[in-house]
Amino acid sequence: MCGIVGYIGNRDAYPVLIKGLKRLEYRGYDSAGVALLNGDTTIYKKKGKVSELEAYVRGKETLSTIGIGHTRWATHGKPSDLNAHPHQSEKGLFTIIHNGIIENYSVLKKTLMDQGMKFYSETDTEVLANLIEYIYTSEDISVEVAVSLALQKVVGAYGLLVISREDPNLMIAARRSSPLVIGLGSNEYFIASDATPIVEYTDRVIYLNNDDIALIRRDELVLKNLVSESTKVNIKTLDMSISEMEKQGYEHYMLKEIFEQPRSIMDTFRGRINSETNEIRLGGLLDVKDQLVNAKRIVVIACGTSWHAGLVGEYLIEDLARIPVEVEYASEFRYRNPMIGPDDVVLAISQSGETADTLAAIQLAREAGALVLGICNVAGSSISRETHAGVYTHAGIEIGVASTKAFTAQVTVLTMMAIMIGKEKGLLSEKRFSQLLKELNDVPGQIEKILELNEEFKHIAEMYKDASNALYLGRGVSFPVALEGALKLKEISYIHAEGYPAAEMKHGPIALIDEKMPVVFIATKDSSYEKIVSNIQEVKARNGVVIAIVTEGDSIIKEIADHVIEIPKSDESLVSLTAVVPLQLIAYHIALMRGCNVDQPRNLAKSVTVE
Ligand code: G6P
Repeated sequence: MCGIVGYIGNRDAYPVLIKGLKRLEYRGYDSAGVALLNGDTTIYKKKGKVSELEAYVRGKETLSTIGIGHTRWATHGKPSDLNAHPHQSEKGLFTIIHNGIIENYSVLKKTLMDQGMKFYSETDTEVLANLIEYIYTSEDISVEVAVSLALQKVVGAYGLLVISREDPNLMIAARRSSPLVIGLGSNEYFIASDATPIVEYTDRVIYLNNDDIALIRRDELVLKNLVSESTKVNIKTLDMSISEMEKQGYEHYMLKEIFEQPRSIMDTFRGRINSETNEIRLGGLLDVKDQLVNAKRIVVIACGTSWHAGLVGEYLIEDLARIPVEVEYASEFRYRNPMIGPDDVVLAISQSGETADTLAAIQLAREAGALVLGICNVAGSSISRETHAGVYTHAGIEIGVASTKAFTAQVTVLTMMAIMIGKEKGLLSEKRFSQLLKELNDVPGQIEKILELNEEFKHIAEMYKDASNALYLGRGVSFPVALEGALKLKEISYIHAEGYPAAEMKHGPIALIDEKMPVVFIATKDSSYEKIVSNIQEVKARNGVVIAIVTEGDSIIKEIADHVIEIPKSDESLVSLTAVVPLQLIAYHIALMRGCNVDQPRNLAKSVTVE
């Protein structure tokens, strides 16, 4: 949420910043801006996309070798040129970009206004810029000390970059609960809110920890904590390539990521399942395996699509491993007084590894003494570092705001965990275990077959693109798939869509059914097949329109539904991995036909680092 990029070195800073902002645009796209320091500070900022900023700057002076850039997802103050970052302090001494929320900004603002300071934007960031300047001008101190004294007064979250004409060869980066990565070049540094703008320049990076302040000069990087004590620099190597971040011929990142799923799922289980030796080995869990296998309860915490993956995990773990599972929205869990303690295993699921509510829930679970495990996609992310142990999904970078391949990768990890625990507990016979491994191995090939039906999905999308509402229904492990299908449609096409357990339909949603509203059923051949056929009949009896995802060869539903989408037969436990794919593609095509921006849907952001 909000992208931050900074450069200090000997290159022309502006092209590095603008390219970096384009890479980061998936994090927020209300407005964008840059500040370039060359004796004085020049700021260019604009409401709208990075391309609008670029057009605005074209032909203007950009000479500088130190600069900062920002792409915004609005929190305080609506998107406008004025509220766009960077923000400058009143006298122009300090210029900052900021990700996060300064919670005590109104108190600070009032204090500064009482001292006669003026404010021009509605943002909390301008308050911080003025606070730094106020402290700096009130005392005889360095830029660095003024920044750390100001940050000591701040309540809330920040990832920020500060430049100052008072010390024009210095860039300050600071972090609390909002990520920052520093890429190390030769006499140059690249700073960003995630590694995507850095990877083309260097693979040596430092992830800042909470309350770290980095003092960055061309030839020196010093890490300190808030009270100016030096802290240890821990250099990591990035495992990411530029080509991963390109569209590779696809019209949108979302489409590319949907089509990548056969490979991303394979990458998730590669080296972890061995069908010859009949083993599942999740390296990140080896040290905690006994505690996991003997857990009395597992509590999943997550948000958005990751929460849906958690619901699939609940079915799988309870069914295959017989451990009770509760799935909680991280944002709810953290604000009540949850019953959690040392006997619990808490499992945090997150694509980005940076979701603020999930991070706060992890903190709470750790304080309560629970073992906290993570399932994350982004290596080195905050969640992967804050959990006791965990498993990376290895799905590759996901840029489309609507999550697709991250979901199937998360479900793949949860499937492996459930099977592994089930086997360790002696609940799965060798035969059942090998069958599940074989079935999991078959999933990428099955998804390939489903992707071949893309034209069919386009045809269905064409028929229902003008709907105002849609209902998605499933039972058992297909219920979370229904939720995820509905979420995909509403996120990117802005059609109101709801996911429901099919049996619950008669307790409410049935009242909505008419000949205009598409009702999507996940109705594959499983233990509740007959029941779901009855639910379809109930919709048809009320003149509803039914699109059904069925198992290849199904002849019963074909007779009653308006459209059937046939997917390959798989084990009931694994069906969510395949059944979700048509729903992703139908949502994609509908959004495209409605003229929506598929990769950057309105008001949403890829990584929600505010609470
Ligand atoms: C945002 C994204 C969703 C994502 C959710 C949780 O809402 O737009 O796609 O599912 O955050 O994010 P996480 O990174 O924790 O999985």
